[in-house]
Amino acid sequence: MNAVKSPLSDSDLKTVADALQGALVDLVDLALVAKQVHWNVVGPRFRSVHLQLDEVVDTARTHSDTVAERASALGVSPDGRAATVASGSGIGEVFGGWVKDEDAVRVLVDALGAVITRMRERVAATGEPDPVSQDIFIQVTADLEKHHWMFQAENV
Ligand SMILES: [Fe+2]
Repeated sequence: MNAVKSPLSDSDLKTVADALQGALVDLVDLALVAKQVHWNVVGPRFRSVHLQLDEVVDTARTHSDTVAERASALGVSPDGRAATVASGSGIGEVFGGWVKDEDAVRVLVDALGAVITRMRERVAATGEPDPVSQDIFIQVTADLEKHHWMFQAENV
């Protein structure tokens, strides 16, 4: 079923759809990882890291909704199911159990770094086929890079 008509050509739409779906999966997983660490962080810096992680969750959830709805607006069905996220996320494995505060920061530096790399590839890929979607990826990348900066600044 193709319920919504896209303003893009088929080939442009394929490029943009892949970028949006990939971004959705990365952002849903980023929100899950940040919550997992939010619940499990321990150590002297517990409170600041615990609160900071929820700021990442807010960013990831907000942007996952924007990205998914951009896909819908282009006539592409977004897929945010758990199995799809698990198989497609660019974030590496995060281990269960309690996480020392400095390790929590490292997990976030790595996770944000992985997502930012892929998000910048999406910025590059979508400029020609759809600058409107590219604009979303640019805003997402800017917000993620701000979080990335703050976590990196903590582990010096
Ligand atoms: Fe909480």
